[in-house]
Amino acid sequence: MFNSRIIATGSYLPKKILTNSDLAKTVDTSNEWILERTGIEQRHIAAEGELTSDLASEAAKKAIANSGLKVEEIDMIIVATTTPDLTFPATATTVQAKIGAKAAFAFDIQAVCSGFVFALATADNFIKSGQVKNALVIGADKLSSIVDWTDRNTCVLFGDGAGAVILQATEEKNPKEKRGIVASSLYSDGTLNDILKTSGGPGLNQKSGFIEMAGKEVFKHAVDKMVKSVISTLDKAGLTTKDIDLLVPHQANLRILNAVATRLELPEEKVIITVQKHANTSAASIPLALDHANSQKKIKDGDVLVLEALGGGLTWGSVVLKW
Ligand SMILES: CC(C)(COP(=O)(O)OP(=O)(O)OC[C@H]1O[C@@H](n2cnc3c(N)ncnc32)[C@H](O)[C@@H]1OP(=O)(O)O)[C@@H](O)C(=O)NCCC(=O)NCCS
Repeated sequence: MFNSRIIATGSYLPKKILTNSDLAKTVDTSNEWILERTGIEQRHIAAEGELTSDLASEAAKKAIANSGLKVEEIDMIIVATTTPDLTFPATATTVQAKIGAKAAFAFDIQAVCSGFVFALATADNFIKSGQVKNALVIGADKLSSIVDWTDRNTCVLFGDGAGAVILQATEEKNPKEKRGIVASSLYSDGTLNDILKTSGGPGLNQKSGFIEMAGKEVFKHAVDKMVKSVISTLDKAGLTTKDIDLLVPHQANLRILNAVATRLELPEEKVIITVQKHANTSAASIPLALDHANSQKKIKDGDVLVLEALGGGLTWGSVVLKW
């Protein structure tokens, strides 16, 4: 029986930084309002012509370098994204070409802000079934291209970036010492499509559209559903919230992160928070936060990590893993 372990992480943020004060010059908002309601201080914005596949490729190259693998050893690439370069082909195939991962098959996953959790659980199943040895799992989004920069209700919340992990098949010698992904849970409720969506799409109006959101409704569902998902995934793993060493949540909003942590009775030091500097980068937010924690040496061997997210769809879920 194979198990899948994250053996390396990597991330990439575009150079340009847009602060709250910068935004206040173009829409009717203020640094104080944004900080108080969201905890966000700034976001990174892709340069003109910089595409999701560019962000994803940069993060991927760092994760591969950190893994010590040769790029030819990657046999699957999944890119979780809501902002593909093109309607088709999949951004993952463009990444494959850009990094030269000739031996890999590649496809995208679209589960909006839950995309990385869905992609990680998918890769885990490919590994457990013995079909894949080294999976490159990327969350990458260029939300700046689907934000309506005149809508203060949404434009203050989002940013661009990418994060990547290498998930590797490892043989379990002692099942009691199980390492890597221990359990995952994925959920969707399409009846809640309308509370977080874009105003366009290739089928509807041949446009990519802009983000539309019922903020309060999303907030309520986010806290409730992520907490329940974490508890049920821990339960599958035979663990409880007391076993969590680090929570790596989707970075949507500091108030959501704090509400989830409070309901799970987690102290501040057990929650990775990067939303102040990155804002909500959708599928990229968890792997960006994970790479941040990893590079700051906040994760110890054997730590129990919980990754959780909610996004448009609605989609939500969580992954429990032992580092
Ligand atoms: C978006 C969010 C920050 C808004 O906070 P809120 O406390 O619910 O605020 P409200 O929507 O009630 O708005 C309060 C007022 O602030 C105003 N407002 C909204 N955005 C503003 C901004 N950027 N700057 C200043 N005022 C703003 C509203 O127009 C409203 O004014 P009104 O009372 O005159 O109508 C909050 O609902 C939220 O975080 N929701 C979840 C969003 C999210 O994370 N989505 C992605 C999930 S993956």
